[in-house]
Amino acid sequence: MTALLATRVLNADGATIAEAARCLASGGLVAFPTETVYGLGADATDGQAVARLYAAKGRPAFNPLIAHVADAAAARRLARLDADAERLAAAFWPGPLTLVLPKAEGCVVAELATAGLDSIAVRVPRHAVAQQLLHKFGKPIVAPSANRSGHVSPTTAAHVLADLRGRVDLIVDGGATPVGVESTIVACLGEPALLRPGGVPSEAIERALGRPLARPAVEAASADDAPLAPGMLASHYAPRTPLRLDASRVEAGEAVLAFGPKPVPGAEHAARVLNLSPCGDLIEAAANLFAHLRALDAVGAPCIAAMPVPRDGLGEAINDRLVRAAAPRPARL
Ligand code: TXA
Ligand code: MG
Repeated sequence: MTALLATRVLNADGATIAEAARCLASGGLVAFPTETVYGLGADATDGQAVARLYAAKGRPAFNPLIAHVADAAAARRLARLDADAERLAAAFWPGPLTLVLPKAEGCVVAELATAGLDSIAVRVPRHAVAQQLLHKFGKPIVAPSANRSGHVSPTTAAHVLADLRGRVDLIVDGGATPVGVESTIVACLGEPALLRPGGVPSEAIERALGRPLARPAVEAASADDAPLAPGMLASHYAPRTPLRLDASRVEAGEAVLAFGPKPVPGAEHAARVLNLSPCGDLIEAAANLFAHLRALDAVGAPCIAAMPVPRDGLGEAINDRLVRAAAPRPARL
């Protein structure tokens, strides 16, 4: 059991960033905003801090972490970028893209953070607060999404507090995160492969590469096996209320996750209706996804009915998260 900490929530000004960097340097855990979701940061080079981070999240230790760095030069000190990786870094960093790369000789990131793999996930976030913190701290920061393992990712400081109060030292409040879904993860360990759809649409990545991405089957992973692509646990982004996908009508008493301008048949009998984007904009929908799932979960309805969301652009990541949220929960998580 982790001892309870006095979690502080501070507005993201210069003094807070300096305090956050000091806290990380002394082995503390700091939640901070990125453009995708809030991350739970620890000093990537400090094995004990990383161990505390896994404990705070309740995360299976085989699930490795993303190392966040300020720029591509810092990324090259941790990992080897081949020509494809360099092309993607130039096109999308800073931004919501994570690259899984061969670990560089002399990589300073703690072995525990990469779960003993020869590869490492690296990302250069674009959010001003994340950038300022990385510059101030001057070392890589490992940061999973700042939720308890298996819960919905946090897009506000209040979400982080709801999940991790007493388990982290400091939450840097930088407002709601603009993208709202996690980064896209591409492995460049050979032929580039999409491991997780996310904030950069896969079409944009394929345009930058000049060819299609490989798409390893993600369904193959189960919670009991070491995941094929770690992190692809079938049940992951989960509200407690069961979720029904591709709903075309509402049963009385359900909570409804709507999308687009068309009225949902039966919505007048719903416990609550929240629309991801009344005008049908996928960027707005991604930004609202996790906050709406949390709010509908809080209704206490027997079921959340999710209406269909188109699959193009950010719709791929939104549908991926909805399918995971609807997957049966392994009893142990
Ligand atoms: O947007 C994001 O990526 C957020 C923000 C905070 O940066 N972070 C995030 O981290 O979503 P997390 O830990 O919740 O998800 C990272 C995923 C995990 O599924 C993990 O298994 C995968 O990245 N991953 C990390 N290292 C890997 C590796 N070497 N090979 C394959 N997958 C890896
Ligand atoms: Mg996560």
